[in-house]
Amino acid sequence: MIQIDRRVFTLHTRNTTYQMKADGHHVLLHTYYGPRVSGEDLSYLIQYADRGFSPNPQEAGDDRTYSLDTLPQEYSTCGGGDFRLPSIEFERPDGSLTADLRYAGHELRKGKYGLPGLPALWGGDEWETLVVFMEDAAARMRVELYYGVLERHDLITRAVRVVNRGETAVRLRRCASMCLDFQGGDFDFITFDGCHTLERNLNRAPLRPGVQSVESIRGMSSHHHNPFVILCGQNADEDHGLCYGAALVYSGNFLAAAERTQLEHNRLLLGINPYHFCWTLEPGDSFTAPEAAMVCSPNGFGEMSRQYHRAIRENLIHDPLQGRDRPVLINNWEATEADFDGEKLLEIARAAAPLGMDLFVMDDGWFGRRDNDASSLGDWYVNEKKLPGGLEALVPRIRALGMSFGIWIEPEMVNEDSDLYRAHPDWTLGVPGRPRTRGRSQLALDFSRREVRDHVYASIKKVLDGADISYVKWDMNRSLTDVWSAALPSDRQGEVFHRCVLGVYEMLDRLRGDYPRMLIESCAGGGGRFDLGMLYYTPQIWCSDNTDAIDRLAIQYGTSFCYPVSAMGSHVSAVPNAQTGRSVPLETRGVAAMSGTFGYEMDLSLAAPEDRALIRKQTAFFKEHAGLIQNGDYYRLTGLGGPFTAWEQVSPDHREALISVVYGAARAAAPFRALRLKGLDPALRYQVNGQGSYPGDVLMRAGWPLPPLRGDYPAVQLYLQAL
Ligand code: GLA
Repeated sequence: MIQIDRRVFTLHTRNTTYQMKADGHHVLLHTYYGPRVSGEDLSYLIQYADRGFSPNPQEAGDDRTYSLDTLPQEYSTCGGGDFRLPSIEFERPDGSLTADLRYAGHELRKGKYGLPGLPALWGGDEWETLVVFMEDAAARMRVELYYGVLERHDLITRAVRVVNRGETAVRLRRCASMCLDFQGGDFDFITFDGCHTLERNLNRAPLRPGVQSVESIRGMSSHHHNPFVILCGQNADEDHGLCYGAALVYSGNFLAAAERTQLEHNRLLLGINPYHFCWTLEPGDSFTAPEAAMVCSPNGFGEMSRQYHRAIRENLIHDPLQGRDRPVLINNWEATEADFDGEKLLEIARAAAPLGMDLFVMDDGWFGRRDNDASSLGDWYVNEKKLPGGLEALVPRIRALGMSFGIWIEPEMVNEDSDLYRAHPDWTLGVPGRPRTRGRSQLALDFSRREVRDHVYASIKKVLDGADISYVKWDMNRSLTDVWSAALPSDRQGEVFHRCVLGVYEMLDRLRGDYPRMLIESCAGGGGRFDLGMLYYTPQIWCSDNTDAIDRLAIQYGTSFCYPVSAMGSHVSAVPNAQTGRSVPLETRGVAAMSGTFGYEMDLSLAAPEDRALIRKQTAFFKEHAGLIQNGDYYRLTGLGGPFTAWEQVSPDHREALISVVYGAARAAAPFRALRLKGLDPALRYQVNGQGSYPGDVLMRAGWPLPPLRGDYPAVQLYLQAL
């Protein structure tokens, strides 16, 4: 996978090639990333030209064509002539910011590197690792560029470690996880943007001169922009064209920036946001930037997504259920919010169990004196007024119904009206002398502090140890503000944002270590922390607080570009929908939620008999096809906004497929339409919903006629099985 010929480093995956070269001045130039080619030295592709105002390093002598400003850099620097986006910036004791990195060696390793304290893709000998050592001799800084190559998924991971090898402290002010330069080409930049309850809408625009970026400075990856972006050819679509995905394995502030330069070169940068970031490196100290995962697809977005999905399922998520299907769950939040008691929960559970639910999740409201969202976060002990006898009494009664039990927590937060806050007001983030900004009436705990995490962890552990609990929903319901830690000196306050993220990771690691069989679902007001960092610890993430099935089509569509179906928390809820007021047929709500982890979030004790019958069918259907739905290859058959939205899951052996189609609002005299399927074996014949025999090539090229359906937002599913 990794070829090294003198100082040319070529990384091959099944369908792609990535190459860099240390040139005569020891500058590491990026020579190629694209469809697979032979491992020749591709540096002949680089063009050298004298450009006005593009400076030349001393050692280039009279050669004015040699400028860091115009050459494609593997990891860009600053202050020495590259005026584009810098990957790294550090301040030396003399106040200078110039960084000058030169190649100083490399190392090839079998297997995948790991990153202490940070999530990262993992696996055995199917990986190879390359480490390229870069040195700034004057600053005595070493920068290690890590590359992990996973051939079968066309995936290359990157990470960066910076070591201060000098005798004085240095302040690291920027440290991107990846930089990707293209000397030519016209690209579109695709980002996934939105807000609370409408996350990850795809936005696509041509790169124009200058910098275009998305970012988060909220202390979480955010509802507003996702740390996954795509650069692609302007003709790229689902099935054609070259595209490059870049995903950050990180859950805090990030910056994803694309720059088009004076010479129509393009640079993509992804990493921790430099906003409010400054990390002091004492002599001998190191800093590790989070991992970025790149997938290049020469054949459009569909293939890129499927490669991400496979890699995430097989090499990122730790599955506590080890190959067993995820449980179909019933969650009480939309049914009751915090207004419930044990009897109400049992009423919902009794209605849910015979309908095929495997897991009962008790959401927010069970602890302290929590009757609404203004109190008790931090007081992780059962409210015995609501749940007399505590979980010891409730959980066995749920289990006796044949369901396992799950619980909601929000460990990073505290309400001022709580015993925890009254005892430790200084444990929150907040700037001395300024009132603390509230979000959802709550403050954020200072998770950079070990003693804070230890205290919270111990109180949650007591709850988890006191009853038979097999699932935890880890929530986070506000953006971080007033980011200042009482535990750090003034010159280290730029570390707090990142230290808080590391604190969350450390606690999630503990949780996984202590409860290896427990399923953890993460959540941040729905999809505010939907990123590869969280997925490393929690196999599923609540996709959005918006459970409207039609809005969910768009949210799940955008999410699917990087993240697999098995990661998307998705539930059927009551109508009219709590967020939109829209009423969508139960059948359609089931179809939308089924392209996720699947569950219900409504008071099933109120469900009409015909709805109960349909729900029983839905859970049975889902369980029958859970493997195909969650682990099949995912194809987007349509975009959004047309007369219908359709997608498909195909088994890896192409013998089975499930097609889901959701129609739009009703219209009279709807035209006849056929849907072309994808990913089938053209040589096989398929039964559709148990009938007929249709050749795969015909279904893919001519399609399947969609039945005319009446009413708003009806849905159909087609199950295909090879004969
Ligand atoms: C967040 C979550 C919801 C629910 C509430 C409880 O908004 O996204 O699913 O758990 O918190 O307060």
